[in-house]
Order: sequence, then structure tokens, then C-alpha cells
Amino acid sequence: MPALMNYNKEKPWVIEQKGFEQQYLGKTESVMALGNGYLGTRSSEEESYIGEKRDTFVAGTFNNFDENEVTELPNVPDMWALEILINGELFSLSQGSVTNYSKQLNLKNGLLTRSFIWTFKDIQLQFKFLRFVSMARKHLMASQLTLNNLTQKTINIQIKSGINGQVSNEGSQHFTDGEKGLMNGKFIQMMPRTTHSNIQFIQTVHHLLSKSATERPETERRAFFMNYNFILNSEEIISFEKRASIYTSIDNDLKDKSLTALRQTAVAELQNIDKKDFDELLAESTNTWQKIWDKHPITIQSKNFKDQLAIRFAKYHLHAMVPAHDEHMNIGAKGLSGEGYKGHAFWDTEIFMLPYFNFTHPDIAKNLVTYRYLGLDGAHKKAISNGYRGAQYPWEAAKPADGEVTPIWGAADIVTGQATKIWSGFIEQHITSDVAFGIKQYIDVTGDDDFEEEKGDEILLDTAQFWASRLEYNSKQNYYEIDNVIGPDEYKEHVNNNSYTNYTAHWNMTYAIQLIEHLKKNKSPIYKKLNKKFNLVKLKEELEEKSTKIFLPQPTKAGIIPQDDSYLNKKLLDLTKYKEKDGVDSLFHDYNLEQVNQMQITKQADVLLLMLLFEGLFDKELKLKNFDYYEPKTTHDSSLSLSTHAILSADLGKLDKSYDFFNKAINIDMGEYMKSSDAGIHAASLGGIWQMIVMGFGGVRMIDSKLRIEPHLPKDWQHLDYGFDYHGESIHAEVEPDKLTLIKADDGQSITFLHNGKEYTLQNTVTITL
Ligand code: BGC
Repeated sequence: MPALMNYNKEKPWVIEQKGFEQQYLGKTESVMALGNGYLGTRSSEEESYIGEKRDTFVAGTFNNFDENEVTELPNVPDMWALEILINGELFSLSQGSVTNYSKQLNLKNGLLTRSFIWTFKDIQLQFKFLRFVSMARKHLMASQLTLNNLTQKTINIQIKSGINGQVSNEGSQHFTDGEKGLMNGKFIQMMPRTTHSNIQFIQTVHHLLSKSATERPETERRAFFMNYNFILNSEEIISFEKRASIYTSIDNDLKDKSLTALRQTAVAELQNIDKKDFDELLAESTNTWQKIWDKHPITIQSKNFKDQLAIRFAKYHLHAMVPAHDEHMNIGAKGLSGEGYKGHAFWDTEIFMLPYFNFTHPDIAKNLVTYRYLGLDGAHKKAISNGYRGAQYPWEAAKPADGEVTPIWGAADIVTGQATKIWSGFIEQHITSDVAFGIKQYIDVTGDDDFEEEKGDEILLDTAQFWASRLEYNSKQNYYEIDNVIGPDEYKEHVNNNSYTNYTAHWNMTYAIQLIEHLKKNKSPIYKKLNKKFNLVKLKEELEEKSTKIFLPQPTKAGIIPQDDSYLNKKLLDLTKYKEKDGVDSLFHDYNLEQVNQMQITKQADVLLLMLLFEGLFDKELKLKNFDYYEPKTTHDSSLSLSTHAILSADLGKLDKSYDFFNKAINIDMGEYMKSSDAGIHAASLGGIWQMIVMGFGGVRMIDSKLRIEPHLPKDWQHLDYGFDYHGESIHAEVEPDKLTLIKADDGQSITFLHNGKEYTLQNTVTITL
């Protein structure tokens, strides 16, 4: 495999691909995806290639293609493509020769640059494409092509550019062919509408060419283009700019506007920026990005410069994909960078990404937890349809009220050739306690009492009620159990008493009991409201009876917490060969899921994740035993796995191992493996990168509602600086191998935290010898 990805110490904010390989288009389309949380777009080349995935998404605009498919984020008509004819022949890198090819993304401001010299027959041209999605103006995208004629003669150039609705989500067409035309004589406008959710899109394009050209409009089904024709003299340089915007009828800042008004708003925006050149528009966006970078910057002094780049990569993408503008939306498992998982949100949000937002952007975190509050109706619907009470959160979520949207059928089984049933939407139930856990963490980190009283407590009680109704009584054993589930390890379907599920359900229920007691004791004004909904006395009784009798799998003689009732009796398989391979799921080239179900093979952290999230429940010796037992049996086929292992092994003093996991984890998308990211970037693993640095090596954690800071640097790191928000205070941490310094502005409230069991108070500065 060619080493195409290039990282260079001299360019500490840049990820780069050197050399063009048509078979690996998906990699840079995803890892260099652009976005501002309102919209996101894959960085496909301007000219088209077979195998490309030319996707643009607007957050929250879900649509059902038909009743046999689940709702998904529709791929919006394309606005980036340029069809370029050079002396009448179609420009493509698959013809002629290409030198100095570089495609790079500047993580600091989201500027995508692609440049090369193209020689074809007797023509030589220098191309430079620039592109960004504005962080300052959420509807706006802009691109610029600079062409330099290096040939000793004139060349005829034709550029066809506009809006192309001849796109789909792998064949599913989500839009009607809306009205299209030229507004004010120069703005191309197209108005597709989603077929079922009836969301009106308004897409507008304005072209600016630095030299005069003949212009000819061209319409096709679902498309509107302009053709520009001009002569490029020898050594002449021209620029061709494209400014594009997307508005939709669900934009929360423009909700009550009529379609006509929306169309005018879109045109007016492009008209208003007529006087600004590309660099000025970029500068606005760069400034907005800078505010993000200025909030709690992380500096790592490491022998390996890629460590620093990795956190920039993670933060860049987290902000490119998080819908910070609207609490009705969440983060898809692939963000806005690909069709994978259809734009749906999973537990990836609460367990892997939310900690980053809780600790660094509590305002955005608030939107993400509010989304779950808005999802209560959908969660009730799901519980009722399964014969339960309370709030049962969907495994996959789209619009808050949709409830469960996990597809039912997946890829073909390699043994039977039949489509595999996806059971997660039915029985992967730990999502409900994951949501509750996320809510509690948000409240603990931010101290947001208003959210807690208005929304958070209700979710925590509603989810506890679900678990109470979900438990099954085992009369032989005289305990309550949870049968027929999938735990985090999705390779084990239909298991009983998955430890992660049982323990987290138990936590949810016991926390609800404490909450009811607390509300009653403090005569909280919300007691009445919640009592009306839940009948708190009765709920508390039920929770007390059931939570004391729930089966919590205990360690075996060898000190192993069984992953579920049957796991430890299953066959063993040496996984070395699969662990060495690059691609995930290579195991499934040899075995089908049914066979893997019968072996002690774990897809991702399961018992070990439980031990990380609820560290106080298990002692170090037990954690070590379980780590040594489960890790060799774990394929890490899910991108969610490595960060958990990195943090836990750092906690357990296995720092070399931890750093090894860290390196693998940062390479999930950034690595050399060119097929890793085809379906989109791995959103949870980006949250995992921040967690490994700040929660793992930086040692920041919320344990039993208390802040704990216990850093441990890997040996290649000399220094780590990071910051975080806690209860409205901004804290800066400097970590050296033997010293931790915490700094906080003097004027705020003092903060207490734990370090190695001792309580410290931070008013201004605290220094601790490690
Ligand atoms: C993982 C899940 C995860 C989902 C979306 C699956 O492969 O096993 O835990 O939620 O991907 O990222």
C-alpha cells in the first residue's frame, strides 16, 4: 500500500495526502471533510471519479426514502463539482501525468487545498483548488480555482458549474426536483424538498470569474449549471470562485419565514458578500475557528509530534460535526462526513464525545443533553411498544421524537448468504443507562442546576422506571435479572446478564432512589411536578425492592467478572492474526456472527468499560486481572474500544501499553490504512482522543460526583498543558512527569478536588508533586 498520508513536523496543523490514487478517494473525502455543525461535506475532488462519494449533509434534515428504509440524513444536491474542458477534452487526473500533487487540510481554519501540475498531450496547467465551509456564516461555503497556463500557447477552457441534484444516498433519492432558475440574473437557485419529511432546501450559487467569458445556462433534470468559456493565454493566471449557500425550512433562526423570504435571504447573503474577496471570507471563518482553539488549548511536548496533531485533528472534527446551533439535533456516529450509520446518534455521544463538551464547551453539551430530554416521547414510545414503562432510549436516534430508527437488516452473512438481522434496536438496551450516565456527568461537571431541575432529574427517574419494568424475576435464584440483551460487545447476541448492562441499570435505579430522597428532604419545588408524573413513593418502593435484588455478576475464583452468563464457558480462539490486520472485521472473512457468538471473542471494551466508568466499584487488583483476561480476547473492531483500553491501562500503571493503545487510536482515521474512513470519520474515536489525553494522561475524572485529578504522563511526553471548565470556573493544568500545577482565576469560587484520596482546594494555584 502506498504511503499516501503525510504528516510533517514543520506543518503542525496540516494533514496531507501526497500523490493521487483513485482507489483511495474515500480516505481524504472523510478525514479532510469540512463542516461547521450546521452543514458538513466530504472533500471529494472537484472533477468526478468512479468510486467517489460526493456527500453534503445538513444536520437534522432526516428523511425516509420509503417505508422499507429507516430515516437518514439525505445527501444534498452537490455544489462543489466543476466539470472542466481543456481544448474540448474533459480534465481528469486519470489522464495525462500529474506532478507535485498535494491535498491538504489546515485544521486551524478548515481550509482545504489541492494543488498539482497536470500535463496532458502538449498542455501543461497548474491547478490550485481552495475550499472551506464558513465557521462564521453557517449557511456559506466557498471555493476558488486558480489556473495557470504553463504552456507556450493559448488554451480554450470551459467550466461547467452549478447545483447538481443527480445525487443520492447509495441510490436512495430523498428530494423532489424543485423549482430552479437564475435569481437577479446571476444567482443560481434550486429548491429541492425532502420527499417525506417535507423539508424545503434553498440552495444558491454565485460564480465569480476573474476574466470575462461567454456564459451559457444549462438545465438538466434535478440540476442547473452555468457554462463559462474563455481563452487562457500562455502564463496567464485566472481565478474562478464559487460561493454557495444552503438554507432549510427547519433552520431555527429563520423558522417563521415564508419561502419567498427565505429565497430572498439566501440571495441577499450572497449579494452582501459580493464586495468581499475569498481571503476576506476565509479570514472571518478563521477568526471564528480561532475562538474555538483559544478555549482550553492543549499543548503536548512529546517525542512524537503526531500526538499534538492528533488532538487538533480530533477537536477540528468535533466542532465541524457538532450541531451547536440547535438542541433538536445530535452528533451522528460519522458526524456529517459520510453516509455510514445514516447520520444517526448512538451511545457514542454520551460515553465518548459528551465528556469533551462537558469539560470544554458546556453550552454545546447542554444542547446535546437537551436533545435527550426532547427524546423522552420517542423513548416512551419505544418502552410501550416493548411492553415496558418509563423511557427506553433508542439504540439509534434521528429526530428526537422518532424513537427507535435502527435498521432491521444488515450485511449478508458469509456462510448463509442471507441478510443478517440487526438486533441492536431491539435488545442493545444499555443505551438507556448510557444516556442517564451522560446526563448525570453533565450535571456533575457543569453544576447546571437549572437543567437538572427542569430536565435532568426527570430523565434520570424515567430511565430508572424503565429498568424497574425491564427486570425479570428469577424465582429459582430469587433475584432479578436482565435476559436476552446485547452488551457493548456486539459479538454476543441474546445473552443473559451482561455485566455492563446489569451494573449500569443498577446504578441508574439506585441513583434514582437517592434523588427521590434528596428532592423530598429538601422540599424541592420540583418534587410535586415529578410526583405527579411518577408517583414517587411507589416508584421508590419498586426501585428499592428491585435494585437490592438485581443480579450483579461477581468475580470468579480467578477474579474475572463474567461478561455475561455464558461467556466464560465459550471456546477460545487465538486472535493474533486478526489483531495484526489493518482493516476491522477481518474476522468475519472466516467466521459468521453465529460462530463468533460461540467464542470468547469481544468486539470492544465491555467489562473493561464498566470498570473504567464505575472505577470505585472494583479494586485495582481485580481490574488488572480482568484487563489481562479480556484484552487479549478483544479485536478492537469498533473504533470505540482503543481509547477505553488506553485510559484504563494508564490508570493501572501500564503506561507503555497505554501509549501503544493511544497510538493505535489516533491512527483510526489519521493512519496510513487508506480504507479506514470510507463511510465517514469515526466520531466517537475523536472524543476518545480528547479523553485519552485529558482524562487518561491528564487524569481528570468525575468519580461519585467528585472531581478527581491524577495525571500520569507516558514516558515520551515531557509536558502536557490542558484546561477545562468545572462548575463555571475555568481551570488550567500543567503536567510534568513529577509535578502537577493547577491554576484558576482568583476571583471565582474555590474548587475542591481529589488527588490520591486527598482533598485539595483550588482558589488560585495548587502544585502537587507526583
Ligand atoms: C459499535 C457500537 C457503536 C456503533 C456506532 C458499532 O460498530 O459496536 O458500539 O455505537 O458502531 O459507532
